[in-house]
Amino acid sequence: MTKPSSDPKLFRVDMEPVGRRVEIGAETTLLGAAQMVGVGVVSLCGGEGWCESCRVQLVSGELSPPTPDEDNALTSNDIAAGYRLACQSFPRSHVKINIPPESLTAPQRLQVEGHAVSVELAPLITPVDITLPPPTLRDLRSDMTRLKDALIEENYEPVTCAMPVLEHLSDRLRAYDWTVRLALTQETQQAGHHIAAMLPAASSLFGLAVDIGTTKLAAYLLDLVTGETVAQTGAMNPQIMHGEDVISRIAYTDHHADGRHTLQRKLVETLNGMIRTLCEQASTLSEYIVMAVVVGNTAMHHLFTGLPVRQLAQAPYVPAVSQALRIRADEIGLQLAPGAVICLPPNIAGYVGADHVSMILATDIWQTDRTAVAVDIGTNTEITLASGGRLLSCSCASGPVFEGAHIRDGMRAAPGAVERVRIMEGKILTYTIANSPPVGICGSGILDAVAEMRAAGIVNTKGAIQRTHAHVRAGDNEHLEFLLVPAAETGHGRDVVVTHRDVNEIQLAKAAIRAGFDIVLDKAGTDIDDIDDFIIAGAFGTYIDIPNAIRVGMFPPLPLAKFRQIGNAAGMGAKRMLLSVDQLNTANAIARRVDYIELTTCPAFQTHFLNAMFL
Ligand code: FES
Repeated sequence: MTKPSSDPKLFRVDMEPVGRRVEIGAETTLLGAAQMVGVGVVSLCGGEGWCESCRVQLVSGELSPPTPDEDNALTSNDIAAGYRLACQSFPRSHVKINIPPESLTAPQRLQVEGHAVSVELAPLITPVDITLPPPTLRDLRSDMTRLKDALIEENYEPVTCAMPVLEHLSDRLRAYDWTVRLALTQETQQAGHHIAAMLPAASSLFGLAVDIGTTKLAAYLLDLVTGETVAQTGAMNPQIMHGEDVISRIAYTDHHADGRHTLQRKLVETLNGMIRTLCEQASTLSEYIVMAVVVGNTAMHHLFTGLPVRQLAQAPYVPAVSQALRIRADEIGLQLAPGAVICLPPNIAGYVGADHVSMILATDIWQTDRTAVAVDIGTNTEITLASGGRLLSCSCASGPVFEGAHIRDGMRAAPGAVERVRIMEGKILTYTIANSPPVGICGSGILDAVAEMRAAGIVNTKGAIQRTHAHVRAGDNEHLEFLLVPAAETGHGRDVVVTHRDVNEIQLAKAAIRAGFDIVLDKAGTDIDDIDDFIIAGAFGTYIDIPNAIRVGMFPPLPLAKFRQIGNAAGMGAKRMLLSVDQLNTANAIARRVDYIELTTCPAFQTHFLNAMFL
C-alpha cells in the first residue's frame, strides 16, 4: 500500500462526509490515509485492488492516473464522475474525497429520534373512496368529468387534478374496475380540493416528514390514517462535499454555473434513496406516499426547492421567499405519488428558517405562559425566547466546531469519537461512541474537554493552556497543547490532543451562542432568573453535557432541572404538520408572530460577544 518515495511533500486529504482531514505523502494511498485517522473504509481484499469495496469519489484536486485494476473495476462513466478505488489512488495535490455510505464500515450517528408528540389526526390529505359508473354508448362523459361529477355528489367541489395524476387517470380507473381511493386535499370552499393520487380501493396512505439539516437529513414515514410512524431513517447531507456550512455552499453556487442545480440534484437523489429505505422498512411503495412536509434552515429550504441563495450571504441577508410554499413532488423530482403535495412551512429570516418554526411548534413554547428558551444548536444556532406572550428569535453563527470541524483531531459523531471527557484528580477519562478505540473528538467531546480542562486549571479564563498537568506539552509553533489520549491507547496509533486553537474555536462558538441568548433576553426585558424552561433541540444538543455547557459559559447558570434535551424537534414538528392541517396553519401563525432580531445590526452584540469569550 505504501511505496518508497523521496518526495517529502505532503498533501492534505479531506474526507467527507466523515469530516476527517489528514496529510499524507504522494506514496500513500487514499485507503492508507483513511486508516491513518481511523476512518473505516471497507477493504475486503486488503487493498489488492480486486474487491471494488473501497470506492470513493474525488470531489476536488488531482490523483494518480487510474491503475489497470481500476480500469477493470470501474466504468469509464464512473471514472469520469471521479470514482476511484481508494487502495489504488495516490494524491498528486491536496484533495477532497467523498466516501459513499456503502464504502464506510461504521455508520455515522444520525439523529432521527425526538420525543413523541401527540396531535389530533386531521391531515391535509384524506382518503376518499369512490365508485364510478363505467362509460357506455349512452354515457360518453370523459373520465375526468365522470370523476368530478361523482365527487360533487359527495360534496367535494371544485376539484383540481394535477397533470401527473391525469396522465394515469384513464388507465387506473379501468385497472381498478372503477372503484378507487383518492388522496384528496382538504381545502377551503374557494380553493377547492386537489387530487394528489389515485390508488386501489382501501389502500393505505402515507406521508413523509423530512428535516433537511446542513449536515444531516432525517426522514419519517407516517401512516396518514392511523397517525403511526411506520419507518424512519437518517443520512448525511450529500451537499457537504461542496461545503461544510451554509456560507461555503452558497459560495459554491456562486462559483459554479450549475452549482445551485447540482446541490439540489444531490439532495433530491439522497432523499429518494431514503424514501426507498423507508418504503422497504414499511413494506410499501413510494406511490402510496401522497404528501410530504419538508423543513430546513432557509438555505436548505431554498436549495431543496431550487430558489436562489446568493442574497442569503449578502447584507441584509433576506430570503427569496418567507411564505409557506406548496409544490408538487414531480416538480423537483422527489419520487412520491404522482401529484403528491409537498408543504414547506414559512421561513422567518435568512438565518432562521422553517426548521426553527417547526421546532417552536413541536416544543409548544408558542403557547406557553411560562418564560421559556428554545435553542437548536448547529452550524447556525437559532434561539427563541417566549416571554409575556412574545416570541423573539435570533440566529448565531456558531460555526461547524460542534460537528468536529476546525478541531485538530475533530470528527463527526461516529464510532471512535471521544464524546465525554472527565478529568478527576489529574486522571483523564474518555468515553467514545460505540466504545471503540479513540480516533478523534466530536462536538460534545471537545466541549467536555475544554470544560474539564478549565475546571482542572489546565486552561485559564482567557483560554490559554497552562503548564499545570503532565499531559501539557509544546505543540505546533510552540503553542501548548493537551494530550487527551496517547497514541498507545488510540485506534489509529496517533495521539489525540486538544490544541490552543481548539480551545479558541470552542470559545468563539460558545460566545456567539451566549451573546445571542443575552441579547434576546435584553430585548425582551427578561432576566436570567425569570427563565422557567431551557429547551435544547437538535442532534448535538442531545448529547451535550449540560453542567459542562454551563461551566464554559455557553448556557446560563440555571438549575439543571430547568433544562430539557428533546432531540430532533424540527423533525417532530414536521410530523405534527403532516398529521394535522391545524398544525400547518399554526406554523404560519408562529412565523408571523416571531420578532426576529438581526444580531449583525445590534450595537450591543460585540460587547456581549467579547464578554462571553471568557471561560
Ligand atoms: S480494498 Fe479491495 S479494491 Fe480496494
